Amino acid sequence: MSIATNVTWHAAAVTKHDRRTKNKHKSCAVWFTGLSGSGKSSIANALSSELHQMGVREYVLDGDNIRHGLNRDLGFSNHDRTENIRRIGEVAKLFVDSGAIVTTAFISPFRSDRNQARNLFDEGEFIEVFVDCPLEECERRDPKRLYAKARSGEIKDFTGIHSPYEAPEQPEITIHSQFVTVNEAVEEIVTYLRAKDIL
Ligand code: PPS
Repeated sequence: MSIATNVTWHAAAVTKHDRRTKNKHKSCAVWFTGLSGSGKSSIANALSSELHQMGVREYVLDGDNIRHGLNRDLGFSNHDRTENIRRIGEVAKLFVDSGAIVTTAFISPFRSDRNQARNLFDEGEFIEVFVDCPLEECERRDPKRLYAKARSGEIKDFTGIHSPYEAPEQPEITIHSQFVTVNEAVEEIVTYLRAKDIL
């Protein structure tokens, strides 16, 4: 791979702050992390609907969907997962610059990758939401029958089975998805966004 040289950063005429003023809300990345089947996508999409109803500029980046397009060249090796999360961090930063609240729903299993993503943002703009659900419960739910395939050896490198998941140490929000409804989880996140003056 060759690295581009002779490229110059152009300062934007309209800034993130200009867009936030017009939107009447601040922008941030709500970064979900958790095992497959923990409920990331369900909560992220319900949050998106709630914010949309409130007139907030919002967008969801979801692992399964992004892997159909932007990241379709990536698999599930450690190296590819790191590159997946690096790209999503950069895309999320563009959304935050655009003045939107972007929600990302990726397993993002490695702490160092999530921290690298966090470091792209200004203080308070990266809100890590740990969707905490025990492996046994995710495996019992198995909505896409992926755990069954992983156990039978049909899928290799499956998170929680043959590939590690490193839980966040100090997430801004933890959702115990075994014990709360999707609506309660959304409520908790909206309350947090209000408390931080983002909404
Ligand atoms: S990662 O680890 O953040 O790069 O993964 P992500 O981009 O979120 O993609 C996870 C979804 O891909 C499906 N899938 C797998 N997940 C984990 N391990 C392996 N080997 C795998 N193969 C396919 C699965 O549907 C994940 O979606 P969720 O919504 O998490 O269940």
